[in-house]
Amino acid sequence: MMKNGLGAVAGPADPAVAGAVGSAVHVRGLRVRRGGTEILHGLDLDLRPGSITGLLGPSGCGKTTLMRVLVGVQRYDGEVRVLGERPGTPAVRGRIGYVTQAAAVYKDLTARQNLRYFAALAGARARDIDEALDTVGLTGLADRRVSTFSGGETGRVSLACALVAGPELLVLDEPTVGLDPLTREGLWATFRELADAGATLLISSHVMDEAFHCDRVLLMRSGRFLAYTTASELLERTGADTLDAAFLDVVRRAGRTEQGEGQ
Ligand SMILES: Nc1ncnc2c1ncn2[C@@H]1O[C@H](COP(=O)(O)OP(=O)(O)O)[C@@H](O)[C@H]1O
Ligand SMILES: [Mg+2]
Repeated sequence: MMKNGLGAVAGPADPAVAGAVGSAVHVRGLRVRRGGTEILHGLDLDLRPGSITGLLGPSGCGKTTLMRVLVGVQRYDGEVRVLGERPGTPAVRGRIGYVTQAAAVYKDLTARQNLRYFAALAGARARDIDEALDTVGLTGLADRRVSTFSGGETGRVSLACALVAGPELLVLDEPTVGLDPLTREGLWATFRELADAGATLLISSHVMDEAFHCDRVLLMRSGRFLAYTTASELLERTGADTLDAAFLDVVRRAGRTEQGEGQ
C-alpha cells in the first residue's frame, strides 16, 4: 500500500471500498513487465460496483497496460479479480466491455450491422440495438458504412458495440479523445446512467478536467498511483485552481516523499 503526499491511500484504506468480496475490481501488488522492463510497479486498487473511476495520467504512465490486465489480455504478477474472477476466464469474459483507443469495428459494415454482430455474440445478455445507437447519438447514421464516418463517429460505434453487450464492468481507454465538447458531455451523461444502473466504469484520460465527471480519480505516473481521491478533494487539498495544477502539485509532493524515503 502506498501513501502519497495528500495523505490519501490507493485502495484498501478507502472507506468506500469493501475489499475483495464487494469489489468489482480487486487488485493487490500488480506488477507488469513488457519488453523486459517493469512498467507497473506493484499497484493496489478496489473499485466499488456502480461507480465511475477516472484513470488519469500522462501518456506512457501505464493506463492502457492496467486496462489490458483487467480485461485478460496482459500477463501480470500479483492478485487480480474482476467481478470476483480471474481476468480472461470464461466466467467473466462476456460480462466485461473493453473499448480500446483504436476503434475495433468493421469498417465495411454499417453501424447497425456492427451492433447486430456484437449483440449476436452477447446472446441473451444483449441489449436493444436502437437504444445503444441512440445512447451514442448515432441513430441518424445507423445505416451508413462505418468507412464513411469521422474518427469521433467511429469511436462512438465502437462504444455502442460494447454497450449493446450489456457489460457489468466497462473499461474505456480514452473514449473522449478527439470528440467535440457537446458529444463529450453527452457521453459522460451516458456513463453516469450506466453507473446508476449498476455498471462499474473505469475510464482513462490524459485530460485532467474529465475528473469532474468521475466519482473518484486515480492519478497515475510512471507505473504507480499517486492518489486515489475525488476531483474536489484534490483541488481542496492542493489549493490549486485547476486539476492540471493539482496534478503537478501531487507529482512534486510524491517526488519529495520519494527523496525523503531514500535518505
Ligand atoms: N509491447 C511493449 N513493449 C515494451 N514496452 C511497452 C509495450 N507497450 C507499452 N510499453 C511501454 O509501457 C509504458 C506504459 O504504456 P501504456 O500502458 O500504453 O501507457 P498509457 O496508456 O498511459 O499511455 C510506456 O512506457 C510504453 O512505452
Ligand atoms: Mg494508452
